Formats: sequence, C-alpha cells, structure tokens
Amino acid sequence: MKIVAIETSCDETAFAVVSVSGPSSAPRFRILKNIVASQVKIHAPFGGVVPNLAKREHLKNLPLLLKQIDPRGTLGKNIDMIAVTVGPGLEPALWTGIQFAQELSQKWNVPLAGANHIKGHLYSFLLSPATARLRAERKKLFPAIGLVVSGGHTILVLAKDLHHYVKLGETYDDAVGESFDKVARLLNLPYPGGPALEQLAKKGNPRAIPFPAPMMNQKNYNFSYSGLKTAVLYYLRNLGAAANDFSPSAEQKKQLARIERRGTVAADVAASFQYAAFHVLTAKTIRAVREYGAQTVFIGGGVSANKELPRLLKEELKKNKMDLPIIIPPFTYCQDNAVMIAVAAYMDGVQGVSWPLRADGTLDLTN
Ligand code: KG4
Ligand code: ZN
Repeated sequence: MKIVAIETSCDETAFAVVSVSGPSSAPRFRILKNIVASQVKIHAPFGGVVPNLAKREHLKNLPLLLKQIDPRGTLGKNIDMIAVTVGPGLEPALWTGIQFAQELSQKWNVPLAGANHIKGHLYSFLLSPATARLRAERKKLFPAIGLVVSGGHTILVLAKDLHHYVKLGETYDDAVGESFDKVARLLNLPYPGGPALEQLAKKGNPRAIPFPAPMMNQKNYNFSYSGLKTAVLYYLRNLGAAANDFSPSAEQKKQLARIERRGTVAADVAASFQYAAFHVLTAKTIRAVREYGAQTVFIGGGVSANKELPRLLKEELKKNKMDLPIIIPPFTYCQDNAVMIAVAAYMDGVQGVSWPLRADGTLDLTN
C-alpha cells in the first residue's frame, strides 16, 4: 500500500510518500519521497518556536511541498491512504496540516487517518537498517525498551511486541530536548540548542561539575529536567558574581582562572550538563531492561540524533554485563519528519486503532 503523510506539529512542515510491503508482523517501508521544510531561521531570533509564526509558515509551505512531490498532479491516482499528525504539538500548527489533508482527501477521494506524533518517533526504529539486520539474523526484538526523547517528550516505554506498548514513565516537567535548548540559551549558543550543545560538550570534561541527576534514585521510571536547568543557571550566576567579588571561594577562583586561561568553562558546563541529563536516562533504561528482560533498546525523537546518548548507554550496559542492540533511526528520521507519520498511521491501521481528526496538543501515547 502507498501512503502520503503530512506533519505540521511544530516547526517543520513535512511531506512523505511511503510504500509498505510484507506482513504486518514485519512490514517493510520504502521511502519514495521525503521533504522537510525547516522553519529554524524564522524562529531563531525568538530563541524558540512561535506558534502563530509556525502556523503562517505551514500554510505557506504545504501547497509548495505538495507541488514538489507531485509536480504533475497525478499522485492521488495511486495512493491508498493519507496520514496526518493530529497531536501532540502546537494546536494552531496541527490544524493547518489536518485541514490541508482533509482537502486533499476529498480531492483525491482517498481515506484520511490521524496519526500520533509520539508513536511516529517510537516506530522510527522500523526505519533503521539495524532492525532489518536483526530480523534477517532471526534475532528476537521483543520485549523491548523504547525511549522517546524530543523537545516535547521524555518517555520510557515497554514494547511487549510490535503492537503493544505500555508507558513506564515520563518527565514531570521539561522534556530532555527542551532542557538542552534552555541550557544552550544560557550558554549563548545558537538556536536550536541541542546540536550546538552536543558539539560544545565534545570539548569539555563531563566530570568537571557535579550537576544533580534528578530522580536518579527514585525507584520509578519518571524524569524531571527543570531542576537540572536551574542548577546550571545558578552555577553560571555564581561564577558571574564571583568575577565581581573580591573574595571568591577557592573553587570559584579555580573556575575563574580556567575561564581566563582557556575559556573552557562553557564547554565543561555543556559536557557536565549533558552527562547529568543522559546519566539518569541511561540508568533508568538499564533498570527497565533488567526488569522486563528486554532484547533490544530503541530510541527516537530529536535527542536521539545526539551520539553521546547511545555511547553512554552502551558503556553503562557493558558495565552491567549486558549486551543488547541499541537501535537508532537514521539521522533524518530522528528529527521531525512525515515518514514516521506514515509508519505510525500504518501500524495503527493494522491494529484498528484510530485517532480523531482534531488537533490535540496534549495527545497521549495511547487512547
Ligand atoms: O523530535 P524533534 O525534532 O521535535 C519534537 O518533537 O520536539 O526534537 C527536537 C528537539 C529539540 O529540543 C532539539 O534541541 C533536540 O531535539 N535535539 C538535540 C540534538 N538534536 C536535536 N538534543 C541534543 N543533542 C542533539 N544532537
Ligand atoms: Zn518530534
């Protein structure tokens, strides 16, 4: 079957054409078209996504992208389904995609299905060559632990099989990607902060500053990232105050000397923050792997583009004498895209799961 998918939940307008073959227990997705129009430059001066600007850009981009994927206007003739993100995300942005998809569905006379953005990130592991390889080797994939780490979500999931998921825990406040963006802003890094912070962290020492790893010792699978961001804020403020202080502490003196000597303090802050943020993610993932006897771990969402996360997870798994595959989607499918929306809509369709065609900013993983 052939699916056209549309994604407009945040600041990327995305279109994809995906063909699906094989049994529903092991579907194969062939990406025929995949276009993403990023709005990063428009939102960058504001340091974050402005919902009404996002809406305006989606309205402008959607017909342009359709023209790009269907220059001759013939695509509708051999499409079986249109899929569109209905949530979670920014509601004004979501509505633009839903309305555009509704018009297309009428024009082409093709059924329209709503899709869940979080499920899109979760199912992105199906787009990884690692999944195909494990299947070819007849390795067991499930039960699996899934991690969705993005600008809006930090969710740990138990996947009993390809179709059955249970949410084990999530963040109480900021998402991990959001905390990367906020800390990046404190460090005067360009928007979006995550990739810039990862680059800066490579030059720093992750053990230089012992930032708190929140909720680390709580025996649940929940997370909290707003305290970590505040700890970074206070740390930087203290340093700033010490610079104007005639009697800084010995530790502050040491840090100030380092700023003057090598300008490395920002890199150390970035590396130490990143370590604290990922340490708690990896520790809870490993605990879940052990508790549920997971065969694989898969990670999706914007933060899965960060190479340090799987590296640290692998290192920690090794320390715990565990060896299991970590599946990450190819870079293009870590970030928001419409291919994952086609995948999520297909996977829900075969299970008879449907989502109302109504923008829902706080849509959960299960309905
Ligand atoms: O999945 P995504 O594109 O959109 C949402 O659904 O939120 O994720 C965007 C988030 C942003 O917070 C961005 O800073 C973060 O993913 N991100 C990263 C990296 N690349 C993107 N965070 C850490 N390291 C990265 N390399
Ligand atoms: Zn996303």
